[in-house]
Amino acid sequence: MEIREVAVVGLGTMGAGIAEVFGRAGMTVVGIEADPDALARGVGILTASLSRAVSRGRLTEQEQADILRRIRPGSGFEAAAGADLAIEAVPERMELKRQVFAGLDRACRPDAILATNTSSLSVTAVAAGTAHPGRVVGMHFFNPAPVMRLVEVVTTVLTEAPAGAAIAGLARRLGKTPVQAGDRAGFVANALLLPYLNHAVSLLAAGYATREDIDTAAMAGIGLPMGPLALLDLIGLDTALSILEVLQAEFGGSRCIPAPLLRRLTEAGQLGRKSGRGLYDYGEPAPDAATLASIRNDKLPPAPRRVTLISAGGAEDAAGELAGAIAAAGISVTRNAAEASDLILICAPPTASVLPAALGTGRPDQAAGLWLTGDKLTELVTTRLTSASATAAATALAGRLGWQLVRSPDRPGFLTGALLYPHLADAVRMVQDCYAGAADVDAAMTLGCGYPRGPMRILDDIGPEVALAALRAMHEAYGDPAFAPPPLLAEHAAAGLPFSG
Ligand code: CAA
Repeated sequence: MEIREVAVVGLGTMGAGIAEVFGRAGMTVVGIEADPDALARGVGILTASLSRAVSRGRLTEQEQADILRRIRPGSGFEAAAGADLAIEAVPERMELKRQVFAGLDRACRPDAILATNTSSLSVTAVAAGTAHPGRVVGMHFFNPAPVMRLVEVVTTVLTEAPAGAAIAGLARRLGKTPVQAGDRAGFVANALLLPYLNHAVSLLAAGYATREDIDTAAMAGIGLPMGPLALLDLIGLDTALSILEVLQAEFGGSRCIPAPLLRRLTEAGQLGRKSGRGLYDYGEPAPDAATLASIRNDKLPPAPRRVTLISAGGAEDAAGELAGAIAAAGISVTRNAAEASDLILICAPPTASVLPAALGTGRPDQAAGLWLTGDKLTELVTTRLTSASATAAATALAGRLGWQLVRSPDRPGFLTGALLYPHLADAVRMVQDCYAGAADVDAAMTLGCGYPRGPMRILDDIGPEVALAALRAMHEAYGDPAFAPPPLLAEHAAAGLPFSG
């Protein structure tokens, strides 16, 4: 069936974005909100987004006017009477979704498709409460809807095949890529994304690393477009909490139990960008990276003149490269721990512990670990014995060499690995469960969350055996089953088999 007119119920951040996507594709849209203030706010979000596109030269004023003319506001379900498709994007509460679907069931033509943009609730449960469950489909967009190219198309045991096919075809017409997903909590992308974001909040609350270092590690260390804490503020902490609660009910396990800090911030109304404050404060413009670096560097001592560089955990090659880079900056380097120096740096991989090597030097207070993650990020690993002056000296050295630095405790994975490896394990588990193939996992995360490479590709680039060793170390240290390497990962590591094609 051809879809020409669409009704969008709920014009919050997602609904307004979805209405914009349909309007841009030349379709007639009716945006429905019962509350006049919410309706006005939704139209405001949409207009601001289009104006931004005009100011960036991506849209002409004429195109903007044409799009806005195609989108009309409506205040009741009867406004959806002429729609070929009605999609709801109301808050993630089952009773609310059921009310909306009951209203749409009455108002829409019997051949109209009813879609939910739910990110985690059971599409089957929504469909089962309607008069025509065969026409109910999940059509899940990603925030910001006009930008992210993924649409998860969720069909249930009740869905009639033409309805699913029509939604996948429509997604392509909108310039998006549909990924088929079965009706399981979080589908593909959120089931992987949310536990990772939740873990980042737990690390922050535990004082494992600072907010800025956590986000820098994800961006510079993994290459993601946003750090997990900034992304939570974009998604909305209340939305993230609701999704986690659904994931927790369906899958259990520590990674899905909402971090208490996430719950408290939500209770406090600090929901992220939409409320002006979440994990970050949007009231004042954040200082840029150069300003932050200069504030940090002002308090630092001069860079050390002589550095001892040793390796641990088999990182001899990496230590040699580091020694070369430090010497090239005009700093004297010795590889002999018995010789005097201002600072001892221990080059150790995230599977190793820095402390035993630090103790072995006889000067553990002057020793810190250092690890280059990717080609952009340096992790400074401080042990329980590293002194404040050694930390400051290492930070000054990084500043002198122009390295982007984050601080990590001496725990398996350090900071980037602590975020990344359990996330990769979750992705492997999803493939192991045959819920999604490796290609779909990668498509979902690249197109839905802007990853430059999907988790399976990242895993292949790192080497399954490296991820396996890091997860084993994390599992041994914490005893958390969530860190236990999935058997499929061990099999790929043993067989030397990549995950991605
Ligand atoms: N609405 C419309 N367009 C927007 C936008 C918005 N809210 N935000 C950004 N854009 C557009 C910009 O206009 C710009 O377009 P042009 O290049 O055509 O000018 C483009 O996006 C890039 O924007 P910026 O240059 O301002 O910013 P950026 O390069 O830092 O990218 C980002 C911003 C696209 C949000 C990027 O950081 C990103 O991909 N982040 C990851 C977002 C993500 O993971 N989303 C999924 C969240 S999970 C979810 O949504 C599912 C759920 O159910 C909870």
